[in-house]
This record gives sequence, C-alpha cells and structure tokens, in this order.
Amino acid sequence: MKHSNHLQEIKGDVHIRTIEEDATLGLLSQPRSIPPKYFYNATGSDLFEKICKTKEYYPTRKEDEILTQYSSSIIDQVRPVNILEIGSGSSIKTERLLHACNTVDCFPTYSAFDISGDALLAAKTRLDKKFPWLEMSLLLGDYEAGFTHLPRVDGVSLVLFLGSTIGNLARASALVQLRALHGYMSSTDYLLLGYDRVKDERVLNAAYNDQQGLTAAFNLNMLRVLNSRLKGNFVVDGFEHSALYDTYKQQIVMRLVAKSNQKVKLEKLSADFEMQVNEVIQTEISRKFTIETMGDLLSEANFNVVQTFSSTDDYFSLALATCA
Ligand code: AVJ
Repeated sequence: MKHSNHLQEIKGDVHIRTIEEDATLGLLSQPRSIPPKYFYNATGSDLFEKICKTKEYYPTRKEDEILTQYSSSIIDQVRPVNILEIGSGSSIKTERLLHACNTVDCFPTYSAFDISGDALLAAKTRLDKKFPWLEMSLLLGDYEAGFTHLPRVDGVSLVLFLGSTIGNLARASALVQLRALHGYMSSTDYLLLGYDRVKDERVLNAAYNDQQGLTAAFNLNMLRVLNSRLKGNFVVDGFEHSALYDTYKQQIVMRLVAKSNQKVKLEKLSADFEMQVNEVIQTEISRKFTIETMGDLLSEANFNVVQTFSSTDDYFSLALATCA
C-alpha cells in the first residue's frame, strides 16, 4: 500500500459546473466574467510558477518563509496523525512541514487532494525519495464539490489550505467552502490557512503587474483556454491585461480589456457576442485580509484562530485554527 501510486477519485456531492455552463453564465451577459480556475492549463500552470519567481510577486516566497520559520512549532503543537492538504499541487511548500515532522519525531500520514493527477503523481515520486517514512495517499478531485467523500482518518488531522487560494473566492463562496471543510473535520483537528494581507496598494499593484509581463501573459492565456475548450475565436492581441487593487473592497481585480471592438464566436455554445472597446471580462479577484477580517471569516465558519504566523513584513499570514 505504502508505495502504491494509486489515484483515488473523490466523488463530490455538489454539482460542478462545466466550462460550457460557466461560460454561458459568465460571458454571455454583463458584467462578463469567467472563473479563475480555468487559468490553469499546462501553459497557465507554467506561467503561474514563473510569476512566483518574479521579484514583484511575493506571496509564495512569504508563505514559504513563514513555513520555514514556524513548521516545527506548528507540528509540535498539533502532533498530527494525518496531514490533509486541500489543493496540494506540487506539494513543495508541504516539504517544510514534513521536514519539521522529522525534527520533532512526529510521523503523520499525508493525504494530498488535488484536481491534477499529474501533479499528485509527480509529488509522490519526489516525496517518496525525500521522506522514506511517509505514507502518502493521492486523492483526485475538485474541492469545490465538497469534502464529505474524503477518507476519514482516526486521530488528529492537520488540514492545510495554503497559497491564499481562499482569496480567489468571493466572501460568500469562501464561507461555503470553509463551512463544508468544518463539517468534514473533527473537533480535535486543526486548520492551517494561508492568506495574503492588506498592505500598501503600490506593493499589491506591482505584484499583479510584473515588469516581465508574466501576469499579463497568464491573464491573456485565459482567452487561449476559452478558444481551445469552447472552439472560440478570441483575438488575443485584441485584449489587454489589467489588474488593480480596490482599497475599499480590499481585493485585486484582474480583467481582460478589449483594445478595440471585438466580435466573438464560441462554437461549442453556438453563441456569438460583441464587445465594445474598453469592455472587460473579469478573470479573477484576489482578496486581501487583515488578521481581524480573516478572524471574522473563520469564526463565521465556526473556526477558532489559536495562533497567527506572519512574515516579518506582515505581507502574508498563516492562521492556525481549531473547530470551535
Ligand atoms: C495563488 C492562486 C491565489 O490570487 O495571487 C497570481 C493567482 N493571479 N497572479 C493570487 C494569481 C495573478 C494567485 N493564487
């Protein structure tokens, strides 16, 4: 069992909209929008990794800094029997926690839950070599479909939800996800949640408008995804990247702006529509939190923050919470 590379498919209990449904709902009426999860085809995932290496985009580095500094303390405090990671991706940041497990003589199992089977298998191959003691299970599925079908483990679980993914959800949807997670967790489990902090808007705007134009390329790649998956004819050059921090709503809003009038056809939907110059498609919101607004969100989902770990500059934080 230990060295099996078996992908376990996790059923959902909530309907996950198809890209056809999302595009029909989002693109054919105004204000136009498309959910950010469609960014991540092979090109998009590659571009995101490159964004993380730019000097402007700090969240990934800051989260890693926090994990480097506080992992031993977190593991020693929680003493998990299992670590469950929601949206584990490459599991690179998780390595910090697994190293800490060695240090404090705690040897939990690791359940990685992700939508990409390739990412899960690649992570397993790497972690098997680095952590010979580790029993890892690969759970394949979409976390938006709910958590009720995730396997249960006896004893304390540490549930990881890293990368400020929670920030890509509107408040109401974030609450739905956190409440669903709370429903799955037992009273002795802990949640470790990564989130980006409210800060100087110049720092935020720079993070989503890097000099190399990687975020612009990442945003514009959405049109290629729509073209290939919906048999569309978006002219990528006809659009411009825009990302701007809204200080009132405390969120980055990322959009694609038509540089001239556009005629768009989406064959898979048997639909066409026109866009006027400067008309936009919203592709992402990335919400920023204070320790207090995150505390409020978590308590509305019945979690209780027991400790907050922050980078030295307070750019990014991890909340460690119990199921109150
Ligand atoms: C890591 C997925 C949360 O919102 O900052 C990076 C995605 N978008 N640059 C974020 C992203 C533009 C990112 N997430």
